Amino acid sequence: MVHDGNDHREIIPVNYTLLISELQINRKMKEIGEKIREDFKGEKPILIGVLNGAFLFLADLIRYIDMDLEIDFIRISSYGNDHESSGHIKVLKPLNADIKDRSVIVIEDIVDSGLSIQFLERMLSAFRPKKLSFATLLHKPSKTKTDITLDYVGFEVEDKYVVGYGLDDQQLKRNLRNIYIIKP
Ligand code: IMP
Repeated sequence: MVHDGNDHREIIPVNYTLLISELQINRKMKEIGEKIREDFKGEKPILIGVLNGAFLFLADLIRYIDMDLEIDFIRISSYGNDHESSGHIKVLKPLNADIKDRSVIVIEDIVDSGLSIQFLERMLSAFRPKKLSFATLLHKPSKTKTDITLDYVGFEVEDKYVVGYGLDDQQLKRNLRNIYIIKP
């Protein structure tokens, strides 16, 4: 989103390298937002943000979708403070919305192993939505072990840990407006 604040100089460590700028993120969201509007014409989809990482992407993306829609959030855990998926996923905050017979778009920050998306696909399908789609801002295709179809992908990134714009480094740095790679 447009801002006139500072550029977070105080909290960007020297080993962070810029990967995707705020401008690139906003352009991509506009594209995805328009596509979603086309794809769900005449409907009122429910967008489900996966906490914590997707909170910014969901908040900004919906401002690019010119149609009536609902939002909800789900929180799942798998990573703790590690950079590798444990594969043991728990629901920490369930959905509030009734998604039966509704068009649902799950909004993720990043798909890495794909285990979280696979878990969500199985869990949400059980509620019998009319349609279940997946949008992710980032995708690491070289790491993904599952074959879930991603309907909307912002950027494909290489297998490096990325931070900023909702993505954390040990729970910090989610407030950075750009996305960075951490140099080893
Ligand atoms: P997956 O289950 O391995 O696909 O991982 C999905 C979740 O892991 C994402 O929603 C993120 O919360 C987290 N994650 C994976 N890779 C990164 C990264 O590079 N930076 C920050 N979080 C990540």
